[in-house]
Amino acid sequence: MTLGTRAAGNPPASGAGDVETREDGFAAALDRRPGRHWLLHSDGRRSPLPVGRWHGPPEPASRAVVARCAGPTLDVGCGPGRLTLALTRAGHTAVGVDVSAQAVRLTRRRGAVAVHRDVFAPLPGEGRWAHVLLMDGNIGIGGDPVALLGRCRELVRPGGTVIVELEPPGLGLWRGRSSLASLSADGEMRRGGAFNWARLDAVAVHEVAAVAGMVVPEVFRAGRRWFGELAVPVRPWAPSGRAGR
Ligand SMILES: C[S@@+](CC[C@H](N)C(=O)[O-])C[C@H]1O[C@@H](n2cnc3c(N)ncnc32)[C@H](O)[C@@H]1O
Repeated sequence: MTLGTRAAGNPPASGAGDVETREDGFAAALDRRPGRHWLLHSDGRRSPLPVGRWHGPPEPASRAVVARCAGPTLDVGCGPGRLTLALTRAGHTAVGVDVSAQAVRLTRRRGAVAVHRDVFAPLPGEGRWAHVLLMDGNIGIGGDPVALLGRCRELVRPGGTVIVELEPPGLGLWRGRSSLASLSADGEMRRGGAFNWARLDAVAVHEVAAVAGMVVPEVFRAGRRWFGELAVPVRPWAPSGRAGR
């Protein structure tokens, strides 16, 4: 497993630092062009993208995630914003963040709040969020999960958590280049530009989190989907008598 090397807050080392590339990356899926969509990975695998789900109402698994949120929540890579909206409806302050202008438009059209921003750029409420969400494979953003989790650490408040959707056990950590492939309703296959991406499973998350200075108190399942709730460990208690020595 190759873990990340980039310091949190700095742009990714190559390619993915280019916001335009990343914005284009999911465009066909965010535009809801009819057809089927996959992410093609440079290891030869492909992941079908549940684009209908992104554009639809919150599904049972997302309700399980929302139920864990107990305060202001940042939905990173919000896409069309179904989670941001579900959080808002549950009475939380919720803000979606996405590099895609189309994603932000769709989220706002649903009645939720979203900012058009790269997660690695300055964001509102840094250090004050109770939860940060990385759903639907978004741990892949930037292609370096250690750097992304490091960035999320900067965003959450003490005691806050980062809720991450994971791959089922078996894959480990994969980092590489991916691109969106779309099969249109009239049978034409189109492929977008490649960008840095990563996939992380429910076992490897422990090591990746540790390198990012976090722990994984819980891995949980909702239906067939896997999630981890990550936290910054509380500092070990030091006897007060040692203070000032
Ligand atoms: C796999 S899709 C997730 C869809 C979304 N969670 C939903 O429910 O519709 C990844 C999303 O992350 C966004 N994204 C990619 N890189 C990003 C970045 N650096 N900062 C913020 N959003 C980013 C993409 O534009 C896309 O909307």
